[in-house]
Amino acid sequence: MTPRARILLGADDLRAANRRLGREISDAHPDGVLLVAVLKGSVIFLADLVRELTVPVEIDFLGISSYAPDSGRVRLTKDLGTDLAGRDVVLVEDVVDTGLTLGYLLTQLRSRDPGSLGVCTLFDKRARRILPQPLDHVGFEIGDEFVVGYGLDFRGRYRNLDLVAAGDLHTLAADPDAYVADLYP
Ligand code: IMP
Repeated sequence: MTPRARILLGADDLRAANRRLGREISDAHPDGVLLVAVLKGSVIFLADLVRELTVPVEIDFLGISSYAPDSGRVRLTKDLGTDLAGRDVVLVEDVVDTGLTLGYLLTQLRSRDPGSLGVCTLFDKRARRILPQPLDHVGFEIGDEFVVGYGLDFRGRYRNLDLVAAGDLHTLAADPDAYVADLYP
């Protein structure tokens, strides 16, 4: 039978990407940086990334919720506790897909007058972009497929996988447990 899911990235690939991104961000911000992560998908990525930084670093979190998929209409469910004025800020995203969510977030953050504002994303689904976005630090460019694991979810599940799996969304929806069984035979 054809596997429903395949392993796109293992723990070693993710570790190497975090090491590279940590170096890039440290080089770009020698005086320190504030990483702003977007709940919930970026949490596991952020936790590993932050330990690869060699400059002074603070973290904060934004919570968002979509009104409808691909609508670009999102709202803040949790705001930052940090004043961004004059700060060097890097927004940490899990996936930039259409770019609509990132567009909304950047508008929000720019209005708070940071000294600089960069973007780091684990995944760039460039082929699906509707709103072009400046990405300063990219873990992996991926194609038009749905990925789960390492913080990324499908209906709230799979965030705890220590790998990233890719597969067909309809197959995943039809039988979520069998999907995982394919990954850990
Ligand atoms: P955008 O507004 O279309 O760029 O959507 C970005 C958001 O959609 C990401 O922050 C994720 O929460 C979600 N997303 C997009 N693609 C995937 C995926 O393959 N797996 C899990 N979540 C995804």
